[in-house]
Amino acid sequence: MKITSVFQSLLIGFVAAATVLASAADKKPLKVGFAQTGAESAWRTANSESMKAEAAKRGIDLKFSDGLGKQENQIRAIRSFVTQHVDAIVLAPLVETGWDPVLREAKRAGIPVIITDRTIQTADESLYVCFIGSDFLTEGRMAADWLAKKVNGKGRIVELQGTPGSAPANDRRKSFGEAIAKYPELKIIDAQSGDFRRTGGKEVMEAFIKKHGKDIDILYAHNDDMALGAVQAIEEAGLKPGKDIVIVSIDAVREGVQAVVDGKINCTVECNPLFGPKVYDTIQKVIAGEKVERKSFNKDELFDSTNAAAVIATRQY
Ligand code: AHR
Repeated sequence: MKITSVFQSLLIGFVAAATVLASAADKKPLKVGFAQTGAESAWRTANSESMKAEAAKRGIDLKFSDGLGKQENQIRAIRSFVTQHVDAIVLAPLVETGWDPVLREAKRAGIPVIITDRTIQTADESLYVCFIGSDFLTEGRMAADWLAKKVNGKGRIVELQGTPGSAPANDRRKSFGEAIAKYPELKIIDAQSGDFRRTGGKEVMEAFIKKHGKDIDILYAHNDDMALGAVQAIEEAGLKPGKDIVIVSIDAVREGVQAVVDGKINCTVECNPLFGPKVYDTIQKVIAGEKVERKSFNKDELFDSTNAAAVIATRQY
């Protein structure tokens, strides 16, 4: 065999081997880092489950980090995703501000960031590719409009707010407040955070009842978990939730909708947590270089005594 043909066959063999290696590399599972806020509510559990189950279904290597309700843990998680060279980072930001430095690190490393669930405030909009979540302003407005009709624009409200500084707490407070301002006899007499937790809702409602006694006509809770905690506090105070105190809440998790069926919560506005499929579809498009929507919001419904019973059996979360 001539020297040149030896080289030729070596070269062909090398190219073939390289092609095999390259296509094996192409088939490497997508590596995604997800910085979750924590596990404060049933909504959050359903959200984490949706992200994990959909990743498993698609063979995506999901690096899941539970922030345990602390922004510094989420920042640390993002840094570790950068070090692990993930293909994309998903962030469900606990609070709205304070993300720019770490997002800049991800950008410098060329890793696309998808913000999910809660919005952020940033000085540089190029630090993330897109937002996928719910429209918290609309949710607060839907709760207020339903309430105003229910109580004929009259009543004293206590407000159980979500985590201070978080987008849902900020937006649901703002839009609800603006919507009820049209009704001079519908007034918020007290407001405090229960941190989106059932225990928080119970403790704060106990304090509201101690302070205001029978002067409370209405409870507006920023989520079902806090409303359910408050239901307990109201019952322990010898009052009837849903009757002595009208309750309007947000999330429409199964237990919240069940409480509507049971007449203990009067209305819950849906906030759908099942983002998994949409988030991974988006990541796959981003990686393929396709254009994606800058902000996409889930469409949410409202459940009260007129429709809750019809959906409870098929409620997914
Ligand atoms: O960001 C969504 C909110 O966070 C949900 O309404 C609440 O239940 C959760 O903790």
